[in-house]
Amino acid sequence: MAEYTLKEIIMQRKRIIAGNFKMNKTASEAVEYAKAFLPLVKGIDDVEIVLCPPSTCLQPMSVVLEGSAVGLGAQNLYWKDSGAFTGEISAPMLLDAGCGYVIIGHSERRAYFGETDQTVNEKVKAALGHGLTPIICVGEVLEERESGETEAVVDRQVRGGLAGLSSDQVASLVIAYEPVWAIGTGKTATPQMAQEVHHFIRGIVAADFGAEAAAAVRIQYGGSMKADNVAELISQPDIDGGLVGGACLTPDGFATLITNGRP
Ligand code: 13P
Repeated sequence: MAEYTLKEIIMQRKRIIAGNFKMNKTASEAVEYAKAFLPLVKGIDDVEIVLCPPSTCLQPMSVVLEGSAVGLGAQNLYWKDSGAFTGEISAPMLLDAGCGYVIIGHSERRAYFGETDQTVNEKVKAALGHGLTPIICVGEVLEERESGETEAVVDRQVRGGLAGLSSDQVASLVIAYEPVWAIGTGKTATPQMAQEVHHFIRGIVAADFGAEAAAAVRIQYGGSMKADNVAELISQPDIDGGLVGGACLTPDGFATLITNGRP
């Protein structure tokens, strides 16, 4: 990366908007979605677009997305490649199913499935080791924000998730700041509130992995992002995209959101 100036690295940072289907859609519904979605986003090359459906949808969806600019991501993985880990899916399996990305440490997984900063870190290493781009989720719950702990929580999650990685690895991955109180609630962080935390996260990356990694790493906002608030959020200097839940579930709605989020 050394051949580029920091300004050039920042200029090259491409927006990335990912749709997290969560536990919604059967494989046939996801295939129909992909068929309807592709023509709506055809020609968009200034935003990286990723769809993250449930794992049963990955392989059939990859067939539809093949040859398009739309990427495919999983919502979780396990860090071992294979073995006696009932119910889990590994990085090689995700690659085989056509994935290029994987969401790691979503707040729902931290809250309901016991994920910790340490398991997030294991998963991030496994993803990177197999060439998958991790989308690492961080964010505080309401009580933490109200008691002034947002920075401490985000600092611990970011440092925990990135522990032991190289600067080049950090430069290549995606961090999603999702304030938990804004997820699925219709309460969006104001662009200023989100920008503050995004700037803070980029500062952590700069301190631990250097100015170039901080200039390159992409930081998405997530939490009630919609077609009518994406433009204001994404125009903040440290907001490089979105991780979208509810508003990604219809092809039309998500395509409109992406179009409104173009530079
Ligand atoms: P909503 O967009 O439904 O608030 O969900 C955000 C989210 O959790 C994406 O991962």
